[in-house]
Amino acid sequence: MLLKIEACMILLLYLTGILFMLLFPPRNFIQSGAKLRSVRSVGGSRKFSHFVDQKILEGVTDRMAVENLETVRTVRLKPPTAANNSIIAIELQSDAQTKKPGILIIGALNAMAWGATNAILELADKLLFDANYQTPFFNDYDWYFVPLANPDGVNFTRNMQSLRPIDSAVWSRNVTARNQTRPSHWYKNTEEEHGHKCFGININRNFAFHWQDTDDVRKLPDVCSQTYSGKRPFSSAESQAIRSYLHTIGDEIDMAILLHASFIPKKEYIMYPWRFALRLPSNYKTLQAIGEYAATQSRLPDGRLYEVHQESNEGLVAGCLTDYLAGVIGTDLVFVIKPYHPKYPNITDADTLELFVKKSISAILSLVRGWRSSTKQNTLSFFGRNVEF
Ligand SMILES: *[C@@H]1O[C@H](CO)[C@@H](O)[C@H](O)[C@H]1NC(C)=O
Ligand SMILES: *[C@@H]1O[C@H](CO)[C@@H](O)[C@H](O)[C@H]1NC(C)=O
Ligand SMILES: *[C@@H]1O[C@H](CO)[C@@H](O)[C@H](O)[C@H]1NC(C)=O
Ligand SMILES: *[C@@H]1O[C@H](CO)[C@@H](O)[C@H](O)[C@H]1NC(C)=O
Ligand SMILES: *[C@@H]1O[C@H](CO)[C@@H](O)[C@H](O)[C@H]1NC(C)=O
Repeated sequence: MLLKIEACMILLLYLTGILFMLLFPPRNFIQSGAKLRSVRSVGGSRKFSHFVDQKILEGVTDRMAVENLETVRTVRLKPPTAANNSIIAIELQSDAQTKKPGILIIGALNAMAWGATNAILELADKLLFDANYQTPFFNDYDWYFVPLANPDGVNFTRNMQSLRPIDSAVWSRNVTARNQTRPSHWYKNTEEEHGHKCFGININRNFAFHWQDTDDVRKLPDVCSQTYSGKRPFSSAESQAIRSYLHTIGDEIDMAILLHASFIPKKEYIMYPWRFALRLPSNYKTLQAIGEYAATQSRLPDGRLYEVHQESNEGLVAGCLTDYLAGVIGTDLVFVIKPYHPKYPNITDADTLELFVKKSISAILSLVRGWRSSTKQNTLSFFGRNVEF
């Protein structure tokens, strides 16, 4: 008897549930690809125990696209790099029919920021498969990712991980000193320019927006330095490839984030343009507010906050990607995130990797939340009070 009543109650509960779903279907349920995809719960998300390289990235993204035809597209940017690698972009769309605000994330433009590729891949995976990231993050935006913008540079530095470090400038200039050693840091690609004994161009100085032209300094380019900006704007294959991709998707992008890294412990930043000038961008109040919101939302493990300010506060630098995005592509919200990342970490050091990945994903999503909060996208007026959800 008791069992019967229990069964009836459960049946009633189920029926009420089904009725509720029919009367109040979840937002975007019909149109979005969400119902077609297998959604994982929190536990089983993809984790890489190693720093991902170009070859693994190619494999993972190709598989992602094949297994999720409706939502994932991979693009190989052109031209290929000097070492004949193609920079890979992945695009995630929950719903091909409607256009949503676009978010672009570019990582590992600097050859020391190895972990950025992992962070972006894991974020893409969470958006696709983790139920906690569906709404608002996956369903409300179109996502564009460039996980490894400097494949040659990263491959080059990874291969030298176990060698003895010497001063970068010495390593660059003195060919005999290179035997069994590595430069203490390497920020560039590996492209050789004709007639130069030093090689490598800093891609993040090679964009054609105030190239080699900051407010107060006009330095002669030093080909051997780690900040060498190239013999002319867009002389590197990487900046050309990124430029043509930006001009293709530029109109769809509302927010762009460069996932960079800080190489100094406890110096971690969320910054915004300009970097070539001290003058403030016209929307700096919005940028600063979103940045500060993100910093409080993504408090660092030891309780510190990211420092939030304009990029040029850390020194004037010309020809950067973020300035190009803000100044030429015309993207409204441009940020650079710099969580701490050691130089040349042990490739199998899963703890260092996981910490960087966690901080990066948290900072990226907090910026998106900050944006929502600044436009009141995620607030409801409730008896005259604004309630955030
Ligand atoms: C570069 O790579 C592409 C495809 O990966 C290949 O078809 C082409 O032959 C390569 N070019 C050179 C010069 O190795
Ligand atoms: C990485 O560098 C090694 C050694 O120079 C080279 O053999 C390999 O093809 C490179 N891989 C990529 C993806 O560039
Ligand atoms: C990297 O870490 C592994 C263990 O995780 C260790 O065996 C190896 O010696 C380390 N390599 C370097 C270069 O520190
Ligand atoms: C270059 O490096 C080698 C080996 O470290 C050293 O013996 C030599 O003096 C260096 N040459 C110059 C010009 O610094
Ligand atoms: C490179 O260094 C090793 C020892 O570290 C030495 O045995 C070898 O002769 C050196 N090679 C050259 C080309 O200088």
